[in-house]
Amino acid sequence: MSTAVDSVAPGTDPEGLDRFRSLEALQQPTWPDAGALADVAARLSVAAPLVVPAEADTLTERLAAAGRGEAFLLQGGDCAETFADANATRIRNKVRTILQMAVVLTHGASTPVVKMGRLAGQYAKPRSSDTETRDGVTLPCYRGDMVNGHAFTPESRIPDPRRLEEAYRISTATANVVRGFTQGGYADLRRVHEWNRGFMLNPAYARYERTATEIDRAIRFMDACGADFDALRTVEFFLSHEALILDYERALTRVDARSGRPYGTSAHFLWIGERTRQLDGAHVEFLSRVANPIGVKLGPTTAPDDAIALARRLNPDNTPGRLTFITRMGAGRLREVLPEVVAKVTAADVAVTWVTDPMHGNTITSDSGFKTRRFTDVLDEVTGFFEVHRELGTVPGGLHMELTGDDVTEVLGGSEEISDAGLAERYETLVDPRLNHQQSLETAFQVAEMLTRR
Ligand code: PEP
Ligand code: CO
Repeated sequence: MSTAVDSVAPGTDPEGLDRFRSLEALQQPTWPDAGALADVAARLSVAAPLVVPAEADTLTERLAAAGRGEAFLLQGGDCAETFADANATRIRNKVRTILQMAVVLTHGASTPVVKMGRLAGQYAKPRSSDTETRDGVTLPCYRGDMVNGHAFTPESRIPDPRRLEEAYRISTATANVVRGFTQGGYADLRRVHEWNRGFMLNPAYARYERTATEIDRAIRFMDACGADFDALRTVEFFLSHEALILDYERALTRVDARSGRPYGTSAHFLWIGERTRQLDGAHVEFLSRVANPIGVKLGPTTAPDDAIALARRLNPDNTPGRLTFITRMGAGRLREVLPEVVAKVTAADVAVTWVTDPMHGNTITSDSGFKTRRFTDVLDEVTGFFEVHRELGTVPGGLHMELTGDDVTEVLGGSEEISDAGLAERYETLVDPRLNHQQSLETAFQVAEMLTRR
């Protein structure tokens, strides 16, 4: 196992890691003080990594398996993590929700589920406008806690590079707690199963009774056989975020001493967002240089040839597991747009793992003025994703969700119906609406049914 990681000496660039600097980088903050940014970057570039190359390589193998239908990816977490909420309770609730969903999905898929959080680094957001205006006052937009503050004051909205260091510090603390929860017995399958039994006590979820009973029988069978092994007690859990702020990602890149290859060590998996996936842009250039498994979001305007070109650029060796396409077309567009993209990418012999993000194509503003999504649209996009892949004989490899482990009211619908009037009760997200704990579990039960027919 290779775990040694070296910093790249300042002023040298053997791996072309700084080549992105000569290209246009969209969605970057305007830092007021270049010197302060350089100081922070210098400190981060010698700091300890959050993850090590060997773990990233393991994830590449897992994602390759998901691409072949021998595993299924569950990636979930906040749209935007916040520094204020990076406490053990909130983190535990998120991890618990993902673990509970994973048990249900594992049963549906009859394959391992690869668990990954949008966690420990999801602190930067692409925005549709550089500014925000309220009551005639215009300020820079909020770009995530890694960049500036959410409070609508001039001081808070000024990008502050010290926040990059704070993001690193809080991310390492988060990663540490996640490792504790997933390695220390908390994640024991039998315990997670008990939580799911608790969820099923609510009559609102009676329609999932059959699946729940089947899982229960499987677990009791295992127990009766005396099955008790490490894999029941601990869980492999990966970290991911959108690689948006390139100064942060570059500063946390390390060269693996054994293989000589550079790795982004801010997370196991990094993705390029829909707004920054230009073929000649800085984000694609930078991520083409790191050896991690990476993702690209593909929205409803994706031309099949662009997807193929991205794959050739980001994965020239066509290594399975290296590249994941996360499609987010919207329930209304997916059935019309996705088939051609998948068919042409497949015909071009591109190795890719297909994942659905049923969130970002389905954002609406409710009558009461909240940015929200309909639970039915979310499920409809997942249904369409499975249909398209089934028709083409390709593999639906995973699910990418915005969710939280708390009882927030941000997405409309679900069996414990959240209505437009109900959104105001506990709407906490700073950017996009998240499924709450119950809506997340419901999604898992419905997707599990789709997986049995995969
Ligand atoms: C996100 O994942 O929060 C996001 C901004 O997604 P996208 O790039 O697909 O719009
Ligand atoms: Co989002």
